[in-house]
Amino acid sequence: MKREKMTGRPMGDGMSKVLVVYGTKSGCTAGVAEWIGEALTAEGLTVDVAPAEDGPDPAGYDGVVVGSGVRVGQWHSATKEWFAENADALKVRPTALYTVCLTLASEPEKVDEVRAYTDPVLAASGIEPIDIGLFGGWFEPKRFSFIERTVLKAMKAPQGDHRDRDAIDAWVAGIAPKLGA
Ligand SMILES: Cc1cc2nc3c(=O)[nH]c(=O)nc-3n(C[C@H](O)[C@H](O)[C@H](O)COP(=O)(O)O)c2cc1C
Repeated sequence: MKREKMTGRPMGDGMSKVLVVYGTKSGCTAGVAEWIGEALTAEGLTVDVAPAEDGPDPAGYDGVVVGSGVRVGQWHSATKEWFAENADALKVRPTALYTVCLTLASEPEKVDEVRAYTDPVLAASGIEPIDIGLFGGWFEPKRFSFIERTVLKAMKAPQGDHRDRDAIDAWVAGIAPKLGA
């Protein structure tokens, strides 16, 4: 894969472009990605939001924010594959990760367990993320299949939409300067 140098545009010129990538199955993380995109735009950045399945190209962006929902302790495979395929491009750009899941909604003390969901993704990549956002997701029964609902009930996942837009906005405000805002 082609190697690139760090992008040359000076940070803080108000023109930095950021790519927000997401993996979702129920639509929950797509909504989180849109909110991240809107918050980055409010910080003065130019933003594109795209699903990992579409294979967006990080070339041409000054920074990347990539995240996924979780199934059984893992990011969705399409997001993991996109991350691995684009590791060389991510290595030379400020890259932030985020995870959207239900453990945090029911057991907020398990923050280390949730942060570890991205360990396998990062392990072989050599990427040091500028930050890893950890956000509550949803258990909206109508968004899940019978089998998925059965798994979530067995996990004692709390029903409802546990996404916290204020928490997401606060996280974005923290990473925006590192992405060129
Ligand atoms: C089958 C299944 C397994 C799940 N496993 C986990 C898990 O291991 N840890 C967790 O915190 N959340 C888990 N979740 C909760 C989802 O990550 C959560 O509902 C999230 O909002 C889904 O977002 P997405 O559809 O955009 O991926 C699971 C959900 C389902 C349906």
